[in-house]
Amino acid sequence: MIPGDGIGPEVVTEALKVLTEVVPNAEITKYDLGASRWHATGELLPESVLNELRQHDAILLGAVGDPSVPSGILERGLLLRLRFELDHHVNLRPGRLYPGVRSPLAAPGEVDMVVVREGTEGPYAGNGGLLRKDTEQEIATEVSVNTAFGIRRVVADAFARAERRPRKHLTLVHKTNVLEHAGSLWSRIVEEESLKHPDVTVAYSHVDAATIHLVTDPGRFDVIVTDNLFGDIITDLVAAVTGGIGLAASGNLDITRRNPSMFEPVHGSAPDIAGQNLADPTAAVLSVALLLDHLGEKEAARRIEASVAFDLATRDQNSPGSTQAIGDRLAALVSSNTRQTS
Ligand code: NAD
Ligand code: IPM
Ligand code: MN
Repeated sequence: MIPGDGIGPEVVTEALKVLTEVVPNAEITKYDLGASRWHATGELLPESVLNELRQHDAILLGAVGDPSVPSGILERGLLLRLRFELDHHVNLRPGRLYPGVRSPLAAPGEVDMVVVREGTEGPYAGNGGLLRKDTEQEIATEVSVNTAFGIRRVVADAFARAERRPRKHLTLVHKTNVLEHAGSLWSRIVEEESLKHPDVTVAYSHVDAATIHLVTDPGRFDVIVTDNLFGDIITDLVAAVTGGIGLAASGNLDITRRNPSMFEPVHGSAPDIAGQNLADPTAAVLSVALLLDHLGEKEAARRIEASVAFDLATRDQNSPGSTQAIGDRLAALVSSNTRQTS
């Protein structure tokens, strides 16, 4: 467990309460990484810690980023480094509007999608630089890296997920009208993989149009597959239309299982509400459900989801309670669910 910064420690504390209700014998090691460690020692992610993390079954992360640290130091040096070192190529971000949850959309309809965001390439690859630095002619580049290998493994995963879902529908979101080379590689690989999944219907949407459809008709989406940066942006939008960023969970998966996968809320450290017991820990709790599901603890994962669904259907949408109150409620629900089913 890496609590991290801002609301990170607040939400993982609640997630841990829920986790220990369903898996009382879970062995948990807490790693102190983030802004305070960086201030104290200058360290972001020491090799020794990374090597220890490699030995774990899974990682639960709160959030990183702090106003007292220059932007990007913690995000790149800790969070992205973990995703890259542990080969978290599938960034899984479900977007479901739970019954009872208020969407900002007037008539959202049924929304139940999953975004398969590529996690280790695109403009995140760190392939950029400055030319003619500190001159009027300065040029900054951030080259988007898209390998056939990297695209194929996430596209294949997205098709496999679509195949297992009732609607069996996959949408590639990209910007093929402008991004000529990456666009044609993504399109070609989606076409090739689709031949292996004849019962999955395939659609394409430019990312700008996808933001329209996510607001006007989010129910049209089932599985979305997209690159790292588009996926980052649209999953905040998906979170917003499905009841808010406080509910959005994610998994950074190494689907080969050579490395531990990492689970975290989609949100960040929310410095604007940190330390006030205001953050909704539900996203962190649902991230624990994704974690358990990934580890094969399907029943435990289902119990957590059912408890969250019940809480969301019955909570006062105007004042859902403090971070701690929501965590206590979810832990109690999971505990009674656990007793009923065992
Ligand atoms: P943010 O997600 O932290 O916050 C955006 C807005 O959502 C804020 O108004 C915040 O109060 C609200 N919010 C976030 N989580 C919430 C919750 N659980 N309950 C209720 N409201 C919640 O995004 P930001 O403000 O752009 O970034 C803040 C810091 O977090 C930055 O340093 C950024 O780099 C970092 N960040 C980290 C991660 C991560 O660790 N995975 C993700 C996104 C941003
Ligand atoms: C996320 C975050 C990260 C990303 C940042 C903090 C590096 O926004 O997990 O969505 O861009 O992937
Ligand atoms: Mn993001």
